[in-house]
Amino acid sequence: GIPLSPNLSTCHSVPSQIGDTPHKAFHELNCCPALPDSGKPIIKDFQLPTPSAVSPIRVRRPAHHVARDKEYLAKYNKAVSIMKRLPPDHPHSWHRQSQIHCIYCNGAYNQAGAAGDVPFMIHESWLFFSFHRFYVYFHERILGKLIGDDAFALPYWNYDSLDGMSIPDIYTEGQLNDEKRNARHLSPVPVAIDITPEKVDAGYVEPDADEQTATNLALLYQHMVLGASKLELFMGCKLRPGEDGACSGMGTIETVPHNSLHLWVGNTDLPEYEDMGTIYAAARDPVFYAHHTNIDRLWALWRRLHGYRGSRPEFDDPLWLDSHFYFYDENADLVRVRVRDAIDMDMLRCAYEEVDLPWFDARP
Ligand code: C2O
Repeated sequence: GIPLSPNLSTCHSVPSQIGDTPHKAFHELNCCPALPDSGKPIIKDFQLPTPSAVSPIRVRRPAHHVARDKEYLAKYNKAVSIMKRLPPDHPHSWHRQSQIHCIYCNGAYNQAGAAGDVPFMIHESWLFFSFHRFYVYFHERILGKLIGDDAFALPYWNYDSLDGMSIPDIYTEGQLNDEKRNARHLSPVPVAIDITPEKVDAGYVEPDADEQTATNLALLYQHMVLGASKLELFMGCKLRPGEDGACSGMGTIETVPHNSLHLWVGNTDLPEYEDMGTIYAAARDPVFYAHHTNIDRLWALWRRLHGYRGSRPEFDDPLWLDSHFYFYDENADLVRVRVRDAIDMDMLRCAYEEVDLPWFDARP
């Protein structure tokens, strides 16, 4: 079949809630980009960064480790503040950066080549990891460009470690704060990666901290190792073109800790659990990018644990490898990125500072 991709000329308004997420409310919104004066954007093919001293490796560090690196924090805050002050239509603006999530995850484009209007959505399928890898990849490069630092790297929210298991302090200050968070869930309360919408509806009470930490580690082991031995259980179901736009088979990590931590951070007293607790608004919160950097790292770790070296793909299937998305890069060029280019972190010149993996010893 033909690979999956969005048809850029089909951007339309979307419902803020998709699927059967039991949110209290929803509304219609339009998150489409402004079209260029010519009406048609110019698309370039993505080029991997040059593997030389010209492209330094960006080493991503745990958010709780960079807390004492004042110089780094000043740079990160400065980049975000520049981003927030750009005209809202600029592809590098904070506004446009966050709308990418609404576009691709609420289904604002239709699938290219599909008969009829089938929304293109990247959640709950095998497109989940690669799409979000590119999302943070470009966000990071744009931030770096705005402050003239081509080695700038995003921090990752290391909630799979004992010291990183609460909302990072650096995200509650300055440009990285977001008022729309659940005030009961700020540091030092450990995250509950087993929180669900059903539990919230039933009147959620935060459990004892030690008990929660043990639960988190056990669930991480379950979702990274035990329950993720079969490829599709981890990567998500094989979304095929056409159909109804979804195969609805989330990978283990997409459910927990991914979805659960969105819900954990979002303010459940707001109608749609904004910001982090709802897809359309999630990327307005700066901590979104640290959350997704960690999800990205968990993908890289899983590959290592399961013997996928270098660019060896999880699915040797052109349908997956050639599926593509569009992002504005750091030069504000619109580029077409293929899943195959997301697979190898080394080729993207990104790396994760290594830390202990306490969950790896949490075999039940
Ligand atoms: Cu597109 Cu954290 O989700």
